[in-house]
Amino acid sequence: MKSERKDRTKFFCQECGYESLKWIGHCPDCGKWNTFVEEVLPAHSTQAQAFISYDKPKPIKDIEVQENLRISTNMEEFDRVLGGGLVAGSVILIGGDPGIGKSTLLLQASNNLSQSKDGLVLYVSGEESSSQTKLRAERLRLSSENLYVLSETNLDVILDHISKLNPNAVVIDSIQTMFRSGLSSSPGSITQVRECTAQLMYLAKSKGIIVFIIGHVTKEGNLAGPKVLEHIVDTVLYFEGDEHRLYRVLRTTKNRFGSTNEIGIFEMRSNGLVQVGNPSQVFLSERPVGSPGSVVVATQEGDRPILVEVQALVTGSNFGMPQRRTTGVDYNRVSLLIAVLEKRAGLQVGGCDAFVNVAGGIKVDEPAADLGIIIAIASSFKDIPVEQGVVVLGEVGLSGEVRAVNYAERRIKESEKLGFKKCIVPNGNLKELQKFKGIEIVGVRMIQESIAECLKRG
Ligand SMILES: Nc1ncnc2c1ncn2[C@@H]1O[C@H](COP(=O)(O)OP(=O)(O)OP(=O)(O)O)[C@@H](O)[C@H]1O
Ligand SMILES: [Mg+2]
Repeated sequence: MKSERKDRTKFFCQECGYESLKWIGHCPDCGKWNTFVEEVLPAHSTQAQAFISYDKPKPIKDIEVQENLRISTNMEEFDRVLGGGLVAGSVILIGGDPGIGKSTLLLQASNNLSQSKDGLVLYVSGEESSSQTKLRAERLRLSSENLYVLSETNLDVILDHISKLNPNAVVIDSIQTMFRSGLSSSPGSITQVRECTAQLMYLAKSKGIIVFIIGHVTKEGNLAGPKVLEHIVDTVLYFEGDEHRLYRVLRTTKNRFGSTNEIGIFEMRSNGLVQVGNPSQVFLSERPVGSPGSVVVATQEGDRPILVEVQALVTGSNFGMPQRRTTGVDYNRVSLLIAVLEKRAGLQVGGCDAFVNVAGGIKVDEPAADLGIIIAIASSFKDIPVEQGVVVLGEVGLSGEVRAVNYAERRIKESEKLGFKKCIVPNGNLKELQKFKGIEIVGVRMIQESIAECLKRG
């Protein structure tokens, strides 16, 4: 009797889905503590049954594909992240912190999709009642006749409604509230979340319905994080941004139908998410003029150049251990650049407190921002503002050399468009940048030269 029970339950890490026969405190796979929960396994694998298909093997040349596969959400920023629009029959997982705006984004996208020709969208909310969803739709001024709302958490009931309604797209808000009645584990457990997603995947592939799945990212490990679903679904998007700021960034971490480098930028207003068409202008709008420690850097996100302001504040340290804080840039990269600055340019910054921040809540994680960070720190340390109208780009090596970056031409085009007068670029990029007439291009080889070029007094 005892051994039978042992076979029917397992412990799962609620963060990454790692399975174990015994309870363990520390997950050997993802390294998180106290994330294991005992779950009763289904008596038979419903997942395997769901995928029994009557398709036959065919030569690839005989398989027909429909033309014009992409379906627009009517939100350019959203389409960009999806790789140019939605693909019929795909499953898209959207993860994000609580309250970041996942439901808002998908309600707006559903409304747009349902307004397209022959569009019919079912929005299933397991978290809010239909009237609460209606209240939100009123606030967002959405009123499509073909947008259906259902407040339900039993997936079998939902699948039944879907087969009757036959929509082109379904939104599941959120996967952690859904359950299948045949399974004894509670909603949000790894078993439930996996089974529900597998069912939705089958629905999408067999009927060509687009399925959006909302998943909460949790820190405590009480609910299954969307990480366990990443390998099942076609596209994984993360909606991020500081809850206290207006801007939200939609990022791809996996996409079977497009690039994963693209980002979409939105602004959260009382009437919903508004697309930010020209992000550079927004991120630079409150830039202090003539203030030390502030520099404009040309970064590249996917296909699009974005200018951002990097700020640094360097002060004398009151304690033995100098403090370093970063927001929007990698902490370790900043520590490394401070060491390079001290050793190669002779600035005694190593013993100072240094704070580096990217304005507007955006994250920059490409090496082309290195030179900008160096210049911002040097400018604050020397208390000399960076010359006006200057944009900086370049990767910095450990010898203090400035290395060439990719997409230099696009970055400079964007700077020129926004009225910048001078661009400090790696010498290695100079050749490809001969044609620019309206903006002065200065090539640099070492960080010392770049600092001298940017921090001219007077
Ligand atoms: N009346 C309002 N005016 C302005 N902004 C609002 C208003 N109501 C909600 N918001 C914004 O919408 C956000 C919540 O959006 P939403 O419910 O779509 O997030 P969510 O990611 O789905 O959250 P949850 O994880 O709780 O489901 C709030 O954080 C707030 O910024
Ligand atoms: Mg929500």
